[in-house]
Formats: sequence, C-alpha cells, structure tokens
Amino acid sequence: MNLPSTYLWDIENPKGYANAMGRYKTRRELAFLLAHVSEARQRVMDAGGGSGRFAMPLAERGHDVTVVDISQDALRLLHRRKHPRVSTRCADFLRQTFDNQFDVVIAIESIPSFTSVTLEDLFAKIHSVLRPGGRFVFTALNSRSWRHALHTLRGRKCVRYNVAGPTDYQTALRKAGFELLSMDGLMWMPFAVTSNSRLVPLFESIERALHLNRWLGQSPWLLVAAQRSSIE
Ligand SMILES: C[S@@+](CC[C@H](N)C(=O)[O-])C[C@H]1O[C@@H](n2cnc3c(N)ncnc32)[C@H](O)[C@@H]1O
Repeated sequence: MNLPSTYLWDIENPKGYANAMGRYKTRRELAFLLAHVSEARQRVMDAGGGSGRFAMPLAERGHDVTVVDISQDALRLLHRRKHPRVSTRCADFLRQTFDNQFDVVIAIESIPSFTSVTLEDLFAKIHSVLRPGGRFVFTALNSRSWRHALHTLRGRKCVRYNVAGPTDYQTALRKAGFELLSMDGLMWMPFAVTSNSRLVPLFESIERALHLNRWLGQSPWLLVAAQRSSIE
C-alpha cells in the first residue's frame, strides 16, 4: 500500500512497525491476543487501535472489530484496508459512550496514550463497555524494568502516564472488577523500538531460551489478559 500518511504507528511504516523490532513485537502481541480471544465470533473493541495492526488479523479470523482512535490519519489508512468486519470511530476513547457491550476489549501499546485518567479509572471505563465475563487484553510498559531505569538514567523523556509495575496493574485491575488471567513479558532487547538490527532474531531466541518473558518484575513490556467477573 502506498502510504502518504503522517501516521507513524502503521504495520507498513518503516518508522513504525515495519522493521525488525516491530515484526518481533507484532508476532508476540498477536500470539498472546489469539491465545486469549475465543475462536467463536466475538465483538471486539480495539481502544486506540490505530490503523488496524490487530483489528485486521482479528477480522480476518471472523471477529467483528470496532476500532476507536483519536487519529483521523490512522483511521484513513485502516479504511483503505477495507474489511467488512471492521468499523471505526474517530474519537477520544475516554469521552465516548457505547451502546453495545463488547465480548473483548483490546488496548495494545495504547495504555500510555490515555493521559487524562488514572489507571484505575481507565480500567473502570473498559470494564463498563465489556459484557459480564468479557475479556480485556492489553500491553503495558513496566516502570520497574531495567529498560525503564536505563532510559531514566540517560535522562531520556520517559512516558509517565499510566506506567506502573506488574503488581500495580494487578491491583488496578482488581479494583476495577477484573480477575487477572495471565501476564507475560516482552521486549528484552537492547535496541530502539523501531530498530531494524539483524540481531533482533538472535535476541528473540535468547529471550525464548532463557524464558525471560516469565521474569515479570524486570520485563520492559507486559502482556496482560483479564476477565470481567460474570456474576455482578
Ligand atoms: C502506539 S499507537 C498503537 C496503535 C495500535 N494499538 C497498535 O498497536 O498498532 C497508540 C494509538 O493510540 C491512539 N490514541 C491516543 N490517545 C487516544 C485517545 N484518547 N482515544 C483514542 N485513541 C487514542 C493514537 O492515535 C494511536 O493510534
């Protein structure tokens, strides 16, 4: 697809996810997502879903996906991908109300973008759009990890909003009415997020061989699946 867009976080943009790091993250994130989304047709909301990096593969598997994103550019790209099972809403997710309750809400790499609410309020909002028993799958930055510490040491501007440690995410989920299903680690790589280094696959195999994904306390990113209680 020809991309005359200013939207960065696209699967075909070399400065977004079309690079070695982006492919590694997309592989891991999609595998985690598919492990926690039922194969039966689901109504999925993709909060901060961008140009459809996950809406498209979910729609291709038969799910109905509503992408809510604040960026018109992102949704323009998604419209060009034309999938009948994908609908879009260009809006601030936090200010929107939704008629239907969803089976699944996903928020991949978008949690730190929701800057005007606390983690607890964000999770409560997500809880309110899910049907009882519905699932919430998201990725989040880990404020306790070596990578976060390194960025802080180097004086880099760190994302400050809704970045917490694994137990803080668990606590916020519980307070919002979720039960944690699983948590996994991601991105044990000494490369920039958009790096195209040939060494990425090597580090990926080291991560896998040493089961670094299970070391949640230090894992730079976290993959999280939770469930809204089915009895209220
Ligand atoms: C890093 S991108 C991730 C996009 C997509 N989830 C993915 O993984 O490819 C974060 C996205 O969140 C969107 N976003 C930021 N604030 C938002 C808000 N308040 N409501 C809806 N979308 C928002 C941005 O426009 C952007 O598309």
